[in-house]
Amino acid sequence: MKQDITTLWDLSEERIQYLFARALELKKQHRENRRDLPLAGRSVGLMFDKPSTRTRVSFEAAMIQLGGVPMFISVKDTQIARNEPVEDTSRVLSRYLDALVVRTFSQKFMEDLAASADIPVINALTDLYHPCQILSDLLTVLEARGDLSGARIAWIGDGNNVAHSWINAAAILGFNLTLACPATHMPEGFILEKARQEGRGDIRVVNDPAEAAEGAHVIYTDVWASMGQESEQHQREKAFAGFTVDQRLVDLASPDVIVMHCLPAHRGEEITHEVLEGERSVVWDQAENKLHMHKAILEALVLTWR
Ligand code: CP
Ligand code: NVA
Repeated sequence: MKQDITTLWDLSEERIQYLFARALELKKQHRENRRDLPLAGRSVGLMFDKPSTRTRVSFEAAMIQLGGVPMFISVKDTQIARNEPVEDTSRVLSRYLDALVVRTFSQKFMEDLAASADIPVINALTDLYHPCQILSDLLTVLEARGDLSGARIAWIGDGNNVAHSWINAAAILGFNLTLACPATHMPEGFILEKARQEGRGDIRVVNDPAEAAEGAHVIYTDVWASMGQESEQHQREKAFAGFTVDQRLVDLASPDVIVMHCLPAHRGEEITHEVLEGERSVVWDQAENKLHMHKAILEALVLTWR
């Protein structure tokens, strides 16, 4: 049966561990300039309805480096924009492509595509989740710490799509996650509830960034206004006052803390220039790991897990 990644819950812990190991192997191969072409003759569609730099280019480069061909599909240029049903689109694309990577607004749109497609569908960000981001981020944490057991992750900022995928990951893999969010911008209750009922992570939500940062091994933040929330920018700047990741917060963390941001960053809002460019920041390695993880994901979904 095909393997989709609409949320991290689609993957077993065993499969996530496989992706970490395979991505690390592929990274080593890349460093040594060894290139196998396991996806030669294969094609993957990248259907995007929101802007992207890292996710789009790393999936495209991943596919090319594996010997296959990526095809960028701008949703506004498809017949979906003229109301062709999602189910018709996905059944047709399944006849042409080997997998579909989708960035869009609605999680339901993504899940409807996955349900009616015969090919694997990969969530490259929706309003609700960003699962592939957290898979590559965890690779960066593994490289820094060796393993995830005992890791204390602090999320500082909006209870958004990236935060939701962190909650899912903590539940599936069983690490300690403390999210500090303003009371007005907490993670979705149903996501926390499922994580606590079905998962095994130690997940806490607080309203004080210092409480989350204290002793943390990872401090993670993201923009205050996500794509689609641009009109709320001004109001959000007020709501998130005091939530900037600055040196004071970093000093509260473990001495070996790494600072992470999925990027793009707004210096002076959710993170200071000093911290983003500082010695504890791993954001550029984090961005690179998207390439290696996306290769592992494409190879596994197209070739192995069928
Ligand atoms: N982190 C991330 O998803 O970046 P892009 O929006 O540039 O793809
Ligand atoms: N939360 C951000 C992540 C960007 C990669 C957004 O959805 O815009």
